[in-house]
Amino acid sequence: MYNEINLNQIAMETSPPAEEPARQYYFMEKCRRWVKKFEAENGRPPRACVFNMGCQMNAHDSEKLRGILGTIGYQLTEDETSDFVLYNTCTVRENANLKVYGHLGYLSSLKKKRPQMMIALCGCMMQEPQVVERIQKKYRFVNLVFGTHNLYKFAELLAAALESDRMIIDIWKDTDRIVEDLPADRTYPFKSGVNIMFGCNNFCSYCIVPYVRGRERSRRPQDILREIENLVRDGVKEVMLLGQNVNSYGKNLEEPVTFAQLLRMAEQIEGLERIRFMTSHPKDLSDELIEVMRDSRKVCRHLHLPLQSGSTRILKKMNRRYTKEQYLLLTEKLRREMPDLSLTTDIIVGFPGETEEDFQETLDVVRRVRFDSAFTFIYSRRTGTPAAVMEDQVPEDVVKERFGRLLSLVQEIGQETSLRVQGQTLPVLVESVNEQDPSLVSGRLSNNLMVHLPGGSGLVGQIVDVYLKECRGFYYIGEIADSQEKERTWHS
Ligand code: SAH
Ligand code: SF4
Ligand code: F3S
Repeated sequence: MYNEINLNQIAMETSPPAEEPARQYYFMEKCRRWVKKFEAENGRPPRACVFNMGCQMNAHDSEKLRGILGTIGYQLTEDETSDFVLYNTCTVRENANLKVYGHLGYLSSLKKKRPQMMIALCGCMMQEPQVVERIQKKYRFVNLVFGTHNLYKFAELLAAALESDRMIIDIWKDTDRIVEDLPADRTYPFKSGVNIMFGCNNFCSYCIVPYVRGRERSRRPQDILREIENLVRDGVKEVMLLGQNVNSYGKNLEEPVTFAQLLRMAEQIEGLERIRFMTSHPKDLSDELIEVMRDSRKVCRHLHLPLQSGSTRILKKMNRRYTKEQYLLLTEKLRREMPDLSLTTDIIVGFPGETEEDFQETLDVVRRVRFDSAFTFIYSRRTGTPAAVMEDQVPEDVVKERFGRLLSLVQEIGQETSLRVQGQTLPVLVESVNEQDPSLVSGRLSNNLMVHLPGGSGLVGQIVDVYLKECRGFYYIGEIADSQEKERTWHS
């Protein structure tokens, strides 16, 4: 389901236009002609798959890459043996990198059997020079490598790769450019990610993202709102506004706008039912934002507010620019204004120099805030970041032991807080038919908790009131509250 672009009127006799996105439409048409030739020769269209290996932003980038492939005429699959395989990589932790090399090993054996198969790599990991060097040396069968800043040029790069038998590599160090109006292939017809900004200026000392995603750039509010309006016209009910630090949205625009103002504008869009966003940095979370969230009917009752560590000493070394006390005051304020708000977080265990006392501070914050859920990560040393060369890297066995303790505390509290809405009737956006049990459908509450309920595929994409009957750890079993709805469900 990609927004369609009419390529039929593109003049291919002239040289490619210089301006964007017209230039990319030109190359999409060029690739489309190649695809038609392939189809005539093989009696079927070429098949393509895109794997995303990172965060929500990475996943949304993959939707754009799929949109371009779909526009060109590739048949989209989820099959690693396709004619064109693209890995959209992540490099936030070492194991993300290792996964890519593992897949490349497998692809090398496939390509030996089918030399015409094309393999491409893009995304954050490709922004690291030592990675690209390694690929050039050891994985010579890769056809195309590009980075995060020139993703919009995918059609142009693919056109070059289709004509070349050498590896095409195009990596930019940074960019101040944002190209609008490229196609996207949405994974879900009824919900979609929407980029509001790119890059990050925070340079948390452990984190590679600012180096691979470049400096902060915000999209203009009118472009964002137009995209959301178009999505809503196309059946989208829920949007997820995406940025590494949405709370600093709009600061560098010619006409500065705050994130809270953007939310207010998005709220006005008729037909849009739910607004989520990700991620909020605690240091920039304003009272204005809390107020807008509190008074909004559409902004979901969920805030992901990465803590990283509960120790002020470690937070300082992490360059997070808030203290334990400031974080606690902020979450108290949030809970006071929105008692039904679900708070989730990210925590890193084993940052260099973390002592048992520092770790106890983290456990203390977890106990006091009572997060609904938390992503817990073992600190991973990223070459090029300040923390990678800090002394006192914590031994692996100590980190693992702390990680285990944190995980059980987080899970214990998460299960207790999930119980909060037991017995209530709340709206659920139904997302899919349940994979394990097809007599059930699955969806999410505004607070992001998962609910499974009896129903058929006719409910997918609808918001229905659900009685939350039974909490099973981190999800609910519910049933449709209204009997008429129930009737409809069973007959769909
Ligand atoms: N911009 C977001 C986070 C993006 S990365 C924010 O600041 O909240 C997602 C999460 O990965 C981070 O919140 C952090 O907890 C984790 N992370 C980042 N770098 C890491 C590293 N070197 N080791 C372990 N976890 C890391
Ligand atoms: Fe990384 Fe910090 Fe930026 Fe998040 S805010 S992406 S953790 S540098
Ligand atoms: Fe990974 Fe890049 Fe996202 S490093 S977490 S895919 S911004």
